[in-house]
Amino acid sequence: MNAELKNDLYLRALSCEDVERTPVWVMRQAGRYLPEYLKVRKQAGDFMTLCSTPELACEVTLQPLERFKLDAAILFSDILTIPDAMGLELYFAAGEGPKFKKPIKSRADVTALPSLDPNDSLRYVMDAVSLIRKELNGRVPLIGFSGSPWTLATYMVEGGGSKDFSKVKGMLFSDPSTLHELLNKNAIAVTNYLNAQVAAGAQSLMIFDTWGGVLSPENYKQFSLQYMQQIVDGLVRNADGRKVPVVLFTKNGGRWLSDMTDTGCDGLGVDWTIDLRDAKAATQGRVALQGNLDPSALYGSPESIRTEVKKVLDSFGEGPGHVFNLGHGIHQFVNPDHLAVMVDAVHEFSAVAKS
Ligand code: CP3
Repeated sequence: MNAELKNDLYLRALSCEDVERTPVWVMRQAGRYLPEYLKVRKQAGDFMTLCSTPELACEVTLQPLERFKLDAAILFSDILTIPDAMGLELYFAAGEGPKFKKPIKSRADVTALPSLDPNDSLRYVMDAVSLIRKELNGRVPLIGFSGSPWTLATYMVEGGGSKDFSKVKGMLFSDPSTLHELLNKNAIAVTNYLNAQVAAGAQSLMIFDTWGGVLSPENYKQFSLQYMQQIVDGLVRNADGRKVPVVLFTKNGGRWLSDMTDTGCDGLGVDWTIDLRDAKAATQGRVALQGNLDPSALYGSPESIRTEVKKVLDSFGEGPGHVFNLGHGIHQFVNPDHLAVMVDAVHEFSAVAKS
């Protein structure tokens, strides 16, 4: 497991160290836009079987690395494994996204949630992490991840995805103490889950706060950021004699980058609705920035993709601390060859810019 890392650009960039070129990986890089992924998912039968079979999760994690010159692997799993392990019973209705059979409806439901031992009920995730780390054999670092307490709570209370968040926001305004109890339980579960991923071999951690951006500034701080802070404070930050960088990503959170930096995290994921020049000004070199090409740019022509990549690199400009990424997950219907164009352009332009 301790094989030396042959490509540590990603970890160095997150520590704001100088790098020869800008490292690149992609949110949801293992996923439905890849025909080889669809083949393995079909073989598995359904998404959760794919997640919970370490050999298959490992196989799909490594697939994008075979095709593209990426600088990090991300564990193939899902943020909703935690509520599933708490007994909410996750399932995927065809064409409808994730759903829970037993959503949270009351204070009693929150109180009844069990505390998790990640090495027991989420053992399959840790086994996948160890196997992936072994199979990577030091090629690139492995990113572990979780959802934020707030983002998990939205799915747990809504019972699935939502457009207006009526149930969880109803709870926020009319019964905030129940929501706080849920968020605290989620924060404890996420902290233990991420620390277990590090113990199993994850070399960097990312927390996805996909729905923090639907909150008002005051409520964002109280109901999302505060609990990400609790997690950052509780994480093991070193493993194998090396820093384990932690990246926070709040989609639509461009207004709060400075507050997010104050948590003491190492990097911030940035979506495409903010210019990296402004993100840099807001964070003053205190954290690395990861992003932020509009995922829909990959629907454009190869030539336009190259132009857009250059714009993102130029918007970050000089200096250390940039990891190239999309501003959110890659879309299902993107042509994989277009991702290759993006990755190759990052290699070409960022190496030139630094020489
Ligand atoms: O390569 C990677 O990035 C790792 C895999 C990964 C998945 N989900 C696999 C997946 C990661 C990092 C996630 C995180 C995740 N899951 C988030 C946070 C990031 C984000 O996208 O904002 C969220 C909100 C979820 C919850 C979730 N899981 C949703 C909303 C869906 C449906 C997605 C859709 O586009 O319809 C999933 C299922 C899911 N998770 C898929 C994949 C590849 C598609 C399932 C399939 O194969 O049918």
